[in-house]
Amino acid sequence: MQYSVKGITFSKEDLLTVKLKDIRVDSVSPCHLFAFFKDRPILMLRAGDYVEKEFIDKYRGRGVESFHSLDIANPDNGHKYKLLFNQIDRSVNERQKRQAKDELVKVFAQDYWKKSDKSFLSFVSACFDEFYNLPEEVITELQTSSVTLYSRALLTSSICAMNCIIHSILDLSFIRDLYNASFLMDYGLVSGGDFNYLMSQACEKERNLPGSGLKFLEERTDALKESNAFFNHPIVSAQMAQKFKDSFTNPEVIEHIRFHHEKIDGSGFPGGLSYASLSDSETLLMFGDNMTPFEEHIFKRGDGAVIVKEAFSKLEELCKNSTLPIQSSLGLWAQAMDWACTVETLDESEVA
Ligand SMILES: [Fe+2]
Repeated sequence: MQYSVKGITFSKEDLLTVKLKDIRVDSVSPCHLFAFFKDRPILMLRAGDYVEKEFIDKYRGRGVESFHSLDIANPDNGHKYKLLFNQIDRSVNERQKRQAKDELVKVFAQDYWKKSDKSFLSFVSACFDEFYNLPEEVITELQTSSVTLYSRALLTSSICAMNCIIHSILDLSFIRDLYNASFLMDYGLVSGGDFNYLMSQACEKERNLPGSGLKFLEERTDALKESNAFFNHPIVSAQMAQKFKDSFTNPEVIEHIRFHHEKIDGSGFPGGLSYASLSDSETLLMFGDNMTPFEEHIFKRGDGAVIVKEAFSKLEELCKNSTLPIQSSLGLWAQAMDWACTVETLDESEVA
């Protein structure tokens, strides 16, 4: 029998039983979790949702021993990414570090650029475990305030980590800082409960046609609050992120958040800075931001190619007529993925 619950389609045979005591807490769930009530599946947690210890304790306290899981992330895949991050970190010389980087690029291209049934959740989950360094309140607030902003935080941060690798930034503490800065990039949009449908529309318009999101809000007579919040969110997000500066090895990276909507010709906001005012590293957050739609993402097998390759093609097209300062990222990604698709990856024993 086929079920469809909140956009997730499956049959009972696809499900496994997972004991609550075996569910990893303080991480993102690698699977959708269901409970059955009178033969009807109830979605308890989506794949990619943050698993709080309190959530598990609550159901264990009610005598629940297990849920049914629909696996999305591949644990071996996630493990491989963690090994490669680790290998970059503990390389004893520059050559070894670069070899580990090349291997990571190859694995990533195999999984998310070539035709593949892999879910991007494996990479998202590995990045979260390796790099997330903010208090739990940040991720839980995003998760409870907006599924759109929560999905985006997970995706943009992971793409940002890969963008660093592709730019040959191989200092893991710097990658970690940029990952967390990306996580907080639109955090200001949740303050005061401002992220409503109008804001979401404006953000997606801005992403598809830079400049149009702010114009859309400014032209409305009923959106003054939203227009101000949208215009100022890079500053508000950066100010909010300062509260967590102790989580950063290089706290100056937090300031990059202020510039994530600036453009080459000064037509961006809030500073109206031109390209000459932006350093390369200040543009690193923009790549993931522009790759990722403002919508809830339901992780599923094969979604990696959509999140990475398809989104890249659309962004490349968009950038032919736009002033987004991400040309160097686009060029490096195209070169890296083309190269990686022509070479073979090592097997797991060679990586370890
Ligand atoms: Fe933003």
